[in-house]
Amino acid sequence: MSTSMPHAFDPTLATAAPWWRPRAGDRLVIRGGRRLFGRYPISGAKNAVLPLMVSALLTPHLVTLHNVPASLDVAVLATLLQRLGVGLAWSEGSAGLSLTLCADQVQPGRIDGALVARMRASVLLLGAILARCGAASLPLPGGDAIGLRGIDFHLAGLRAMGARIELHSGLIRAEAPDGLHGAEIFLPFPSVGATENLLLAAVLAQGRTTLHNIAREPEIGDLIGCLCAMGAKIADTGGGVLAIEGGVQLTGAIHTVMPDRIEFGTIACAAALTDGEIVLDHTQAALLGAAGPLLAEAGVALEPIATGLVARRAPAGLAGIDLTTQPFPGFATDLQAPVMALLTMARGASAVTEAIFEQRFRHVDELRRMGANIQVQGRTAWVRGVVRLQGARVTASDVRAAAALVLAGLAAEGETVLDGLDHLDRGYDGMAEKLVACGADIIRSVAG
Ligand code: EPU
Repeated sequence: MSTSMPHAFDPTLATAAPWWRPRAGDRLVIRGGRRLFGRYPISGAKNAVLPLMVSALLTPHLVTLHNVPASLDVAVLATLLQRLGVGLAWSEGSAGLSLTLCADQVQPGRIDGALVARMRASVLLLGAILARCGAASLPLPGGDAIGLRGIDFHLAGLRAMGARIELHSGLIRAEAPDGLHGAEIFLPFPSVGATENLLLAAVLAQGRTTLHNIAREPEIGDLIGCLCAMGAKIADTGGGVLAIEGGVQLTGAIHTVMPDRIEFGTIACAAALTDGEIVLDHTQAALLGAAGPLLAEAGVALEPIATGLVARRAPAGLAGIDLTTQPFPGFATDLQAPVMALLTMARGASAVTEAIFEQRFRHVDELRRMGANIQVQGRTAWVRGVVRLQGARVTASDVRAAAALVLAGLAAEGETVLDGLDHLDRGYDGMAEKLVACGADIIRSVAG
């Protein structure tokens, strides 16, 4: 956990995470143009740790997670779980930040609407609480404004497992008085959240659930690994199908959260963009899926070493690429904005097509303010590389837009002031501090 610079957060929202420091600054001032050299420790994955924390609701026994990222989303979910009656114990050691959760008692009526509204992943509480307690009532989840982000697949799957679900004035009321039962479920799209939600529910449901067209993101594999360590019976039968034998009495588990592949891809871009050299510990190129070869084509060289990878700019320099976001192993939508920041300074033209979320180009206007040449037509952003970006005052609109603007600020001439830091804090454990350790000039300060 990085402690040199405090994170922005509302202290009243994060009482279950004592490692948060009170808010001391809500903007970053980045003086760009420095080449970055050093070692950047990749944290545990944001999108793995959240479902892993929720999995503790399925068992009365202790679940210990190591390598937990000290991010605002973790703090918010920890607070939600604590208010549901889950005991939490934090510690810090050689495995990073660790969290032990004890859900020997769950009080399903006590879901905090304001907290749920802050994060999309809170919808995962629905499947877990319903399976454990037979009823759950939850406000519709919030999260980044990057598209419609329906939860119809989640609800249809839970209904197929026997749940009665009603939606009223922004509230989801679900009950399964006789318990959930196994079902044959076909996801219309390999949704990450729906796969996780239905997996969590199916583990406690009576009988066999077959889940077709599942998401194959590595974070799902991490969740399956932890659930199996708790005694769940989950078989990957191939072709995007999971078979779950439910109704097993789960034990506790000790699990290490997988490395954050999005942070890894983002910082690899930072090394190439600034023409530096950054050692990325605990990483492997395979985690990037199709983004690995495309980043290589764009001029991001990744050299394997014993502890992970070294990222630097390829000798031929940065070059434009065409990419379309897809479910894993396709190009991750969460890397689209950071990679677009890289492409703003690449030789030639790039076509960046966002096929997962409808509104994930809100970083484009901000990059343009810094001198980027980008035109959006429908779901494609056409990027023509420029020789230099100039620092500007910009605002982050979601977690990945924030990371993209940090990258642009590192490469730009002059000073970039980044507002909207809650977005950066939601998804990253001390990104600014870790970049400073590699030579970046970044100061966190209070907006004036
Ligand atoms: N969708 C539906 N109905 C559903 C579920 C999904 O229409 O019931 C649609 C969504 O609207 C979207 C698409 O399916 O257009 C994909 O959504 P998915 O369910 O896969 O995404 P998610 O579970 O909401 C997770 C990550 C996102 C990441 C996506 C895709 C977490 C907490 N969030 O979201 O991460 O972009 O998968 O990989 O795991 C981020 O970290 O910045 C972030 C947004």
